[in-house]
Amino acid sequence: MYDFDTPVERRGTASLKWEKYKARDIIPLWVADMDFRSPPAVINALHKRVDYGVFGYTIAPDELNEVVTAMLESRYAWKVQSEWLVWLPGLVSGFNVACRAVGEAGDDVMTAVPVYPPFLSAPGNCRRNLIKVALKEENNRWQFDFDRLEQSITANTRLFILCNPHNPIGRVYKWDELAALAAICRKHDIVICSDEIHCDLILDREKRHIPTASLDPEVAARTITLMAPSKTYNLPGLGCAFAVISEKNLRQKFKKAMAGIVPGVNALGYTAARAAFKDCADWQAALLDYLRGNLDAVEQAVGRMPYLSMAPVEATYLAWIDVRAAGLKNPSTFFEEAGVGLQDGIEFDGPGFMRLNFGCPRSLLKKALNRMSAALTDRLSTENR
Ligand SMILES: Cc1ncc(COP(=O)(O)O)c(C=O)c1O
Repeated sequence: MYDFDTPVERRGTASLKWEKYKARDIIPLWVADMDFRSPPAVINALHKRVDYGVFGYTIAPDELNEVVTAMLESRYAWKVQSEWLVWLPGLVSGFNVACRAVGEAGDDVMTAVPVYPPFLSAPGNCRRNLIKVALKEENNRWQFDFDRLEQSITANTRLFILCNPHNPIGRVYKWDELAALAAICRKHDIVICSDEIHCDLILDREKRHIPTASLDPEVAARTITLMAPSKTYNLPGLGCAFAVISEKNLRQKFKKAMAGIVPGVNALGYTAARAAFKDCADWQAALLDYLRGNLDAVEQAVGRMPYLSMAPVEATYLAWIDVRAAGLKNPSTFFEEAGVGLQDGIEFDGPGFMRLNFGCPRSLLKKALNRMSAALTDRLSTENR
């Protein structure tokens, strides 16, 4: 019913992902957007809005607030009131605002690494210190090291930025894990900023997304949740996201930190978000099936390649591949020379790993995997010579 197989030409469209390697034969599997057209219902809604032709200052339509609260209740059994929503042009703005809204300059902000790079720069952008706690990989599974996490908390730690599902390691945190983290944050009076941008991209059929704030009202009161339609429906260029903040004082501090700096969402962003959350369930289900097929292709190919390994990906369209055994001096350059543009783990505080974006037509993905395989096989035979 929906076509994810036919390649869409993205060269020459000012795409961040594709322009990086323009005029070079390198398949771009780096920044996290997908090479698919957005759902037809979104495109139709945008056509209608554009045909109307007036693009004045726009506020979040009441109906959109209702669509979002209904969506959160039906997908996650999470009851949210419209006034808890704060619309934002993006999640990166959202967690930067959270860093400014909580505590004072000189305070500490904690996160678990490896993680999405803007988490690492947000605290420094507003004169907070970053405390990084390494996730541990045990039995081929990434998880929190709660002992180390608690030991790393200082008297000035005010905020924990959580990524759930976690980019780049692909985990969907379970209730017990979220509850353990929330208990530590409660004990040390730390606010949680929970980035849940990948929450509707759960590939593991045994897993479900649990919004951190849905654990209980006390956890909700110390949580700023960030969500968006941008990853699931492939709309990041339209800049539309939202925060859910149930506690009034925290919400006011957040809005105050935004004032005069963070612009409102644009009219097309709101239009796309409404259609995405309301009319695209079939498309989303078809996308998830397609991504599951792509993940199989990645897992099988990586399993056959010399040197490489990866833990299971539970969510996102991003694979976090361990390339340490290959002993590459510069893994990015190695794979670029092989004709594939991956993102270097160093940027995520995960050296020795590469992140591969498999949100693309399977034919292109397979071509990239074949190129990687050929280069690594070559390397192995050179080493053995
Ligand atoms: C965890 C996470 N947060 C935020 C973003 C980007 O958010 P935005 O484009 O809304 O600023 C990404 C994009 O990859 C992401 O992976």
